[in-house]
Parts: sequence; C-alpha cells; structure tokens
Amino acid sequence: MIKLTGLYKKFNKQEVLRSLDLTINTGETMVIIGRSGCGKSVTLKHIIGLLKPDQGIVEVDDVNIATLPPLELQGLQKKFGFLFQGAALFDSMTVADNISFGLRTQHLLSAEKQIRERVAECLRLVGLEGIENSMPADLSGGMRKRVGLARAIAAQPQYILYDEPTTGVDPIMSDAVNDLIVNMKEKLGVTSIVVTHDMVSAYTVADRIAMMYHGVIQQVGTPDEIKQAPDPIVQQFITGSAKGPITLEDRG
Ligand SMILES: Nc1ncnc2c1ncn2[C@@H]1O[C@H](COP(=O)(O)OP(=O)(O)OP(=O)(O)O)[C@@H](O)[C@H]1O
Ligand SMILES: [Mg+2]
Repeated sequence: MIKLTGLYKKFNKQEVLRSLDLTINTGETMVIIGRSGCGKSVTLKHIIGLLKPDQGIVEVDDVNIATLPPLELQGLQKKFGFLFQGAALFDSMTVADNISFGLRTQHLLSAEKQIRERVAECLRLVGLEGIENSMPADLSGGMRKRVGLARAIAAQPQYILYDEPTTGVDPIMSDAVNDLIVNMKEKLGVTSIVVTHDMVSAYTVADRIAMMYHGVIQQVGTPDEIKQAPDPIVQQFITGSAKGPITLEDRG
C-alpha cells in the first residue's frame, strides 16, 4: 500500500502540493488526472523518493520513506518500475541495454541468456520485437515511449508508476498499452499509478481516479463515480470544456 498524508511541497515561492492525501491500495490501479503543471509528476517523484516533501509523509508498505537511509531507500526503489514522462532513455545505450539497465545494476538477473530473454519478452509485450540493437535516437516518439514502458516492467516490480504512458502513442498502440497496464495488474497483481491526460485510457485502466486541483486531491472515486461527480471542477476537466470554474491561466 502507498499512503500519502499531508504532502506539502514548494519550489522557490510556488506551492505545488498543499497537503495532498491519497491512498493507493495493494493491487489497485489509481489514475491521477489534472491540468498541466498541477503537480502530478511531482507527486510520482515523491512516491519513489526522488523528491522529498517539505511536510507530510510518504509511506510505502507501512514504511515512512523519508526516514530511510540511502541504501534502504535504494532497496525500496527496487520494488518500483517507473515510466518517466517523455521516456527518458539513455541515448548512448542500445534499446536492450536501456531495458536491462535496472536488471544489471540491481543484480536481479546475472546470466546473459536470462537477461536477453527478459529483454525480448518485454519488447514483445510492448509490440517492439527485434529492436534490441537499435539506438533510441533512431526511434519514433511512440517507440521510445514503449521502450520506456518495457524498461519499467523489466524487473517485474511490485509497483509501477506510469507518467503519461499513452501520450504521443497512436490510438491502436494506446489501446495495446492500456491492455498491458490491465494485464500487469490482473496477471501479476501489480499496484499501479497512472498519470494521464487521456480520459479514454483513464476509464479503461482505472480502479479509481483521483483528480488533482490546486495542490490537493479534489475528488477520488471509481470511473463511474467520477463521471457522475456533481463537482463542477471535475466535470469541466473530464469533459474538456473551456467554460467553467477552471480558467485558462489556472494550472490547478
Ligand atoms: N525540480 C523542480 N524545480 C522547480 N520547479 C519544479 C520542479 N519540478 C516541478 N516543478 C514545478 O512544479 C509544477 C508542477 O510540475 P509537474 O511536472 O508535477 O506538473 P504535471 O502536473 O506533471 O504537468 P504535465 O501534465 O504538464 O506533465 C510546475 O510548475 C513545475 O514547473
Ligand atoms: Mg507531468
């Protein structure tokens, strides 16, 4: 279980998280939505300890990660797969080396044959069989995204954080990415957090959806509860209307 309590984070004078509370239950897929710049990626980075809150607590499996010494934090980070927004591949490494990076550095697999098999399997799952030796610079944006996805799942983590997994991916491949997220949950029991602007994807993969607004969670509920939420802020966001309480300047 992942539990965020009273998370507060300021960058210079800008308050990004203002006492954010959210619990993600084991085995659940939680989708986080909200306007660009509202702090979704910042929230994910707090969960794996890449950012530290000014106030508040991040608990992973009942451990407050702020109290962990660096080595133990690294140990805990091994439970996570992270698809960074924009994929963030190592450009000087082949696709295979990108995907196997965590397997090697965390000493999860040592036999080359096993590593090769795992890389091939992950590439197959994201629909990119046989591109092991390509360099990231030679791939399209959607392919890079899927290589990032393959890397996120390679170590068979208990938790996967996906930051915009379908952005820049064509609709057919988006559908395959949604299936992959659902399969990771159903077949492997993975707990996932998905940040997305893609409401089709949100409704497809989510057990629950949390909408962020002004540094807090405005509403959390099942896809049906969110669709029917009377809150005008939620309705305006999910219907993508320019008219309503959310203004154009307002980054929520
Ligand atoms: N390391 C940082 N230093 C300073 N400001 C930061 C840092 N990381 C994020 N911010 C700021 O915090 C705010 C929230 O950023 P964040 O990346 O979480 O937005 P987001 O909700 O993921 O947006 P998008 O949907 O566009 O990806 C932004 O104003 C951003 O500029
Ligand atoms: Mg983001």
